[in-house]
Amino acid sequence: MSEKNKKENKENDLMEKIVSLCKRRGFIFQGSEIYGGMAGMYDYGPYGVELLNNIKAAWWKEHVQRRDNYFGLDSAMFKDSRVWEASGHTSGFSDPLAECKKCNTRIRVDKELGKIGVNADEKMSEADLNKLFIEHKSKIKCPKCGANDFTEVRAFNLLVKTNMGDFTGKNENPVYLPGEACQGIYLNFKNVVDTTRAKIPFGIAQIGKAFRNEISPRNFLFRTRELEQADTQYFVRPNENKEAYEKIKQDRFNWYVSMGIKPENLRLKQHENLVFYAADAWDIEYNFPFNGFDELEGIHDRTNYDLTQHMKYSGTDLNYTDPNTGEKYIPWILETSVGLGRMFLTFISEAYTEEEFGGETRTVLKLSPSLSPIKVAVFPLLKNKPELVTKARQVYEMLRDDVRTEWDDNGNIGKRYRRQDEIGTPFCIVIDFDTLTDDAVTVRDRDTGEQERIKIADLKNYIKEKI
Ligand code: GAP
Repeated sequence: MSEKNKKENKENDLMEKIVSLCKRRGFIFQGSEIYGGMAGMYDYGPYGVELLNNIKAAWWKEHVQRRDNYFGLDSAMFKDSRVWEASGHTSGFSDPLAECKKCNTRIRVDKELGKIGVNADEKMSEADLNKLFIEHKSKIKCPKCGANDFTEVRAFNLLVKTNMGDFTGKNENPVYLPGEACQGIYLNFKNVVDTTRAKIPFGIAQIGKAFRNEISPRNFLFRTRELEQADTQYFVRPNENKEAYEKIKQDRFNWYVSMGIKPENLRLKQHENLVFYAADAWDIEYNFPFNGFDELEGIHDRTNYDLTQHMKYSGTDLNYTDPNTGEKYIPWILETSVGLGRMFLTFISEAYTEEEFGGETRTVLKLSPSLSPIKVAVFPLLKNKPELVTKARQVYEMLRDDVRTEWDDNGNIGKRYRRQDEIGTPFCIVIDFDTLTDDAVTVRDRDTGEQERIKIADLKNYIKEKI
């Protein structure tokens, strides 16, 4: 077997293990699973929703709570249909699609070209992609039946239509689900300026859902049809974009590192093809276990396109007036946008570890404690000793007011540690017979396995300091 094949097998193996752990431990379930599953849809299970919420909270803390000049928002998903005309989504939000003439499987042409080393992306024109496809398609095989006979490339619009508010049954003027979450920020730019002390430069942050009729949802949470995006839009004076853009790129990179991602698993990559209105675009890429570095987050210099378009289509003046000079202008926008599913997959992939530990192999999620679904697990040493159970319940109830705490009295202590390791719980607390006399418990650290004796009265502070 070639080195390349060996590497691919190892990566597939790791990806399978991560997917299996996510299912086995209640992180992620296939959407509509009992009906056979729905492509590109995933449900977050009991531990998944905790991890997801912790990611959102950490992101919000970084982008709103810790900053002077960022404001939060949560805009409605349904928007006036003209929004998507103004943004260019009804005409230009598409992926290049070709169909296998033998089995009708649809392929995303830019991705298939990428696999054989031909640089292409969805921002290229239909004609340019067709030209490239014709040139190279002899090397592309249908992923389902292996045939090599495809239709021409056509641009397939990704917007998802709804019949919201349509009572005619004809749905001639469909309302769209959001193709990207950020449009709600542009629609509320004026509201935020009018109702807060926001002065340029300032940012608006939002976590919102988006829906895309993806041709080939793939790689677990990486490409889904329903997604959630965490966006910031930073409004700056025209042409005062360069310095702020560099800083935003660096800050975003450093944030991932501060959340436990190794710098060598991240890289910043500039786009080769820009959409016509953009001044610059970079991705933060992560070294995903399925096929190496791929886009985690987009960082885009969008010029004044968004507000100009919405001003034109809505007829509302979206100029900003400088409170000191009276100067009027349409701000430029620097955007960061990341899918929560991709962040989730990134953090889980980075944390997934198999290692020799105490003479056996264990699987452990070495998540940053601030992200761990459960912060503390409390175990009575024996579940059939009421005095231990009562004391352990007291500790459990005291802690769960402050941090997400889990009770576990099932199986031997070693088994309980293994279960908590697999969901990434940083601390396990054992209440034993000594606790009844010294009012102290054993706290075991997930990563080192080291155990410390801590007084119950000091426990809350001890844990708070570590997470
Ligand atoms: N407002 C800009 C925007 O939506 P994008 O590059 O299309 O830009 C931004 O998306 C981020 O959203 C991506 O970097 C990725 O993290 C996430 N994303 C995009 N499409 C996705 C999909 N189908 N499934 C999961 N995440 C997706």
